[in-house]
Amino acid sequence: MKALVTGAAGFVGSGISRRLLGDGHQVVGIDALTSYYAEQLKRRNLQDLEGESFAFHEADINDIDLDALLDGVDVIYHQAGQPGVRSSWGQEFESYARNNVLATQRLLEAAARNGGLSKFVYASSSSIYGDAERFPTTESDLPRPVSPYGVTKLAGEHLVSLYGTNFGVPTISLRYFTVYGPGQRPDMAFTRFVQAALSDREIRIFGTGEQIRDFTYIDDVVEANVLAGHADTARPGEVVNISGGSNISVNEVLDVLGGLVGNALNVQYLERSRGDVFRTGGSSDLAADVIGWKSRTSIEKGLARQLEWARETIDVWSSLPENTV
Ligand code: NAD
Ligand code: UGA
Repeated sequence: MKALVTGAAGFVGSGISRRLLGDGHQVVGIDALTSYYAEQLKRRNLQDLEGESFAFHEADINDIDLDALLDGVDVIYHQAGQPGVRSSWGQEFESYARNNVLATQRLLEAAARNGGLSKFVYASSSSIYGDAERFPTTESDLPRPVSPYGVTKLAGEHLVSLYGTNFGVPTISLRYFTVYGPGQRPDMAFTRFVQAALSDREIRIFGTGEQIRDFTYIDDVVEANVLAGHADTARPGEVVNISGGSNISVNEVLDVLGGLVGNALNVQYLERSRGDVFRTGGSSDLAADVIGWKSRTSIEKGLARQLEWARETIDVWSSLPENTV
């Protein structure tokens, strides 16, 4: 199989690429290496992928010749995007609209022109729900994002479904719930907590720490992509939750981390951040039915692996400017 992974230098995209290469597939990667976080981390992700079966294009989806890029591709894993809930206000919104909406529409147009695709897998987000109506939240519950980021991810997801129903592009959207584990982005909670704990810095909590997340381990998210890429989904435009089942508060995460590190953590509570939902918690019943997926990694195991990874890569992190994490 030949796969196109967009955002291949990023956290999730590099994980999917590594897995596909390990499974013996050919991977074409594209990534613009946007400046949202340190390029050094993205280049490091790419180093792991080097080899005969991996072809990399450092390019923006909005500019590159996509027909040539899609030549011979069977499955697209569309992970490229501008992530991050808290920084999506103000001027930054332009990059959210460009990388999450315009780039997705451009890729879908090219996919519609390419008759040979067997699957188009889109990285959607739990942020499309906003403060959800109920828990566990199901795919038919009302999406009502509370951040500009969530608005762009929902727009991208709707476009993906529209190209499925109108042009027969064999799409499926996976709504990831806060992904963590080795390789996690530096703006995300666990990376920031772990890096602060290892270097005796203050852990900053936005709000009371009582907010709850359905954290999902990276290998489980990669597995969901692999299953979705092969799945024989009857409905183009299908959408499923990929939720880890953890339902744990940020304060409870700190308790687990404190136990793993073996030291008291230095925690400071700051103002709640705008656009941050109070709780996420997804039902993964539909993912089990449609792609045969369920989460396998407990938060205790997953966080221990992330801590181990952070210790192994401490040299890389300590060479980055402090505001990177
Ligand atoms: P990431 O920032 O690590 O990876 C995204 C990559 O896409 C980056 O390397 C970036 O350079 C690249 N990119 C952005 N715009 C591009 C463009 N126009 N052309 C080419 N490359 C471009 O983020 P991630 O955490 O790996 O997230 C991957 C996807 O999953 C994103 O679409 C994100 O919205 C979605 N998602 C992530 C999470 C999570 O918890 N990490 C949860 C829900 C959804
Ligand atoms: C994450 C990703 O960043 C989004 O790209 C993704 O789309 C979203 O998950 C999703 O599930 O859809 P978020 O849940 O905010 O968003 O993930 P974290 O950055 O790990 O934050 C988790 C919680 O910890 C949030 O309430 C956040 O405010 C808090 N946090 C984060 C802190 O208290 N301190 C920090 O330093 C970082």
